[in-house]
Amino acid sequence: MIIKKISELREIIKSEKIKGKKIGFVPTMGYLHEGHLSLIKKAKEENDLVIVSIFVNPIQFGPNEDLEKYPRDLERDTKLAAEAGCDYIFNPEVSEMFPKPLKTSVQVEGLTDPLCGRSRPGHFKGVTTIVTKLFNIVAPHKAYFGQKDAQQAAVLIKMAEDLNFDLEIEVCPIVRESDGLAMSSRNVYLNAEERKQALALSKSLEAAEKLVNSGERNVKKIIQEMELFIGQYPLCEIDYIEILDFKNLEEIEEISGTILVALAVKLGKTRLIDNKIMEVK
Ligand code: PAJ
Repeated sequence: MIIKKISELREIIKSEKIKGKKIGFVPTMGYLHEGHLSLIKKAKEENDLVIVSIFVNPIQFGPNEDLEKYPRDLERDTKLAAEAGCDYIFNPEVSEMFPKPLKTSVQVEGLTDPLCGRSRPGHFKGVTTIVTKLFNIVAPHKAYFGQKDAQQAAVLIKMAEDLNFDLEIEVCPIVRESDGLAMSSRNVYLNAEERKQALALSKSLEAAEKLVNSGERNVKKIIQEMELFIGQYPLCEIDYIEILDFKNLEEIEEISGTILVALAVKLGKTRLIDNKIMEVK
């Protein structure tokens, strides 16, 4: 069932909570794939009622990004979400979420500086602001995010902690195509040749993991090897490759503890991201 109005969703949630129901929430921008569906399934396992928001959030897109052409298919999404266990889709119009110009925003410092924060100025401010609004509207017991957007997850966990949101956040593993490409709504932009070369992302992460497993601890060296590896795919233009301490997303020189290896690569006009979290003794 699709809900378009904030007031209507609040009524439903209020009455379900009175009945003692546990509410799980999966925020998305739609054009659902198995990655999104894995979050919905997990939410269904752990809650009585699952709300999925589908909202292409204008304030997290930069002026030259793909807001207008971001893929949308509400009919298909509704069917897929229901099959995965979604009870209500919240699909507000932009005018419902932003009836008046915003004068308030939520910003997480530090964690938003590296990686996508550097390449997409203002992006995380848009994410944290919309997720705050969604958390206030849905007031779930638990919210589900994907490791696919590892920095986003880290930023939202910090935001929820700092601002005392009364909810739990779970981060779920990256779902991949059979050849390793991380699933993304943006994969539909790729032409056949770009789709082949998009494997550079997951394969370079595997190469990095092999290096670490064989004892390499020098961050610069691993990044250089990843650059060389991606150099074999001429359609790939590296936006960033970074290896950071996962907890604080701070730069490191030597690999140890829990690390995040993350990269963003452009193929034509399409920008893809992928990452691996490694535990190193
Ligand atoms: P969207 O890109 O639609 O992603 C919605 C959720 O699905 C995010 O938590 C994302 O990490 C997760 N996801 C995407 N691809 C995945 C994959 N291959 N495996 C596992 N999980 C995956 O992220 C957003 O929307 C927005 O920024 C949002 C949080 C909804 C705020 O507007």
